[in-house]
Parts: sequence; structure tokens; C-alpha cells
Amino acid sequence: MTKQEIINCKNLEHSLSEAILRFQLDKIFLLTDKNTHQLCLPLIKTFSCMKKAYEISIEAGDAHKELDSLAHVWMELSNHGASRHSLLINLGGGMVTDLGGFAAATFKRGIPYINIPTTLLSMVDAAVGGKTGINFNGLKNEIGAFAPASCVLLETDFLRTLDNANFFSGYAEMLKHGLISDKQTLNELLAFNTDEINFDQLKEMVWKSVAVKEHIVEIDPKEQGIRKALNLGHTFGHAFEAWALHQEKPVLHGYAVAWGLVCELYLSFMKLGFSKEILRMVIQFVKENYGAFYFTCKEYPMLYEYMKHDKKNTSGIINFTLLKEVGDICIDQTADQDTIFETFDFYRECMGI
Ligand code: GLY
Repeated sequence: MTKQEIINCKNLEHSLSEAILRFQLDKIFLLTDKNTHQLCLPLIKTFSCMKKAYEISIEAGDAHKELDSLAHVWMELSNHGASRHSLLINLGGGMVTDLGGFAAATFKRGIPYINIPTTLLSMVDAAVGGKTGINFNGLKNEIGAFAPASCVLLETDFLRTLDNANFFSGYAEMLKHGLISDKQTLNELLAFNTDEINFDQLKEMVWKSVAVKEHIVEIDPKEQGIRKALNLGHTFGHAFEAWALHQEKPVLHGYAVAWGLVCELYLSFMKLGFSKEILRMVIQFVKENYGAFYFTCKEYPMLYEYMKHDKKNTSGIINFTLLKEVGDICIDQTADQDTIFETFDFYRECMGI
């Protein structure tokens, strides 16, 4: 897997036209969803490097990250003469960059693609690191490939119009990056004024956050070892997300991760002596900004089942990434059912549910 270039844009048009010039291209395709078609395309269409680009648009939302949308992208590429010398530009959140990345990775055995993430979650996580794919058979990201974008263009001005919920969804992944890097980064994230966002400071913080992920992915692109650090908060988080979806009350991914972080930092405290003080600070931040995910002890066995079926596990043994302290990562940790149920008890008590 080759390293993808990540560009912190001062001027998106300039960065995009420079990125395009590096290829010997016959055609350019631009993938949007209904949201970015409406909100971001008007800007991109004014760029002279995009005058001849052909737009492909799909429905928005994770429910559409599936085979029919993928087939639509393949069909459009095929019907409009895309070749191996064509470029696909994905303009959108994680759904667009995941699906578009996979479409590019598979069309004619692979064409180059560029990601222009438009949400905080996709900037700091989905669009970076080469994981592409779609949901299938009711399972998230069940079909996919490791296939890095040629280039990811970070334009944080898109975040100025992001709604609160999507801001916090992405911010949870930034918190995770802070927890796996160092105390200074974590403290900056916990102290950031999310009521009145300073976008210059946010731009710096996004850049630092992406660098944390980029560094890990460079060492372990296919998640055989240290890339599992990026799963902190996700074992519990995915169970909450799946249960919420099953109840037809979906929650944003980052919210599930934030609640998962509370659980997994508690596990880290119990099993590895992680700092009680930092655990307390993270709980406070999560309670204030994400509220709580509600469940009762009747749901413990079912949440436990979701955790057992997570694709990060081997032979049904639940796999966690935990921390000894901030930045001291312990991958491939396990916990038995009693410990996991005790963690659910702790979560409900500290979140006041
Ligand atoms: N979202 C976690 C990873 O890219 O590995």
C-alpha cells in the first residue's frame, strides 16, 4: 500500500488543480451525495480544473452505503467512458469517501482517486488511511479493500457550516487520537471551547489529529498490529451503534465512540491502572457534550453478543485496545463477560442513567 499524500489546503482550488496536474488524465469524475451536491458542489464547480468533470451523485446517509449505490457509480463510470487514466474525486463525508474509494479501487482493477472530506469525521478518520468499502448483509463495512487515495485535501472551511451533532461526532475521533498520543494534545482537546469555535485553532487541531492517524497507518497500513490503536472506544462503541440501529434510532458514529471511550477507559483503569483523574475528565466531557446512550441491565446480554460478533475479534474472543496511560497503548486486550457487565454498570452509574 503506498502512502497517501495529505494536504492542508490554504486554497482548495490551487491544491486540487496541482493534485490533478500530477496525473496524465483522460477524464475526471466527481462523486457527491445529495448533501454535498447542494452545499459543496457550487464552490467546486467554479474551479477551472473542474470545468470538464462529470458529476456522479448518490443518496446521502449510511443506509445508502451499499451495493446499489456502488453499482450506480460503476455504471456511471462505465457508461461515460472512464478508463484507468480517469480520476475519481470524492467530495463528502465518510460515506462518500468510503464508497467512492471502493468504487475507484475496483473499477477496471483500480483507478486513482482523491478525497475531499467535508465533515470533521471524514477529515480526521474516514478519508485518511485507505480503508474503503460498503455495508453488506446488514453488517457495516463488510465488503471493502485497503486502497489509499492518491491524495486527501483538507479544507477545514467546510466545517464552518457543519451542524453541532456532526461536529461532535468527528470530535470524538479527535479525542481518541489525543488519548493515544500525549497528555498535552488531550488537554488541548478537553479544554477547547466548543461553544464558540475558533476555526484557526480547529484547523491546527485537525491537522495534528490527522498526523496521529497518518503516522500509525504508515507503520501498519493493514491493521496487523499498532493500527488497532485506532480501535480505542470502538468495541463498546460499535455495540452501542449496532443496538441503536437495530432499534431504528440510529446514533452518529462519533457519539457511539465517545460512549465507548468512557467504557474502555474504565476497563483500562481496572485492568491496567489508567489514571482515574483523566477518566473523570473524559467522562465529564462526554456527559456534557454527548449526553448518554440509554440501556438497562436487560440489554447487557444482547450488547455483549454484538461485541462478540465484532470483526476485530479472533475466534469469538472480544478484542480491545486499552491504555496504561495516555499514549501508552496496549492492543489485543480481552475481558470476560463479568468484567464487561461490570463496565456496563459503571457506565450507567457515571452517566446517570
Ligand atoms: N477508523 C479506524 C482505522 O482507520 O483504522
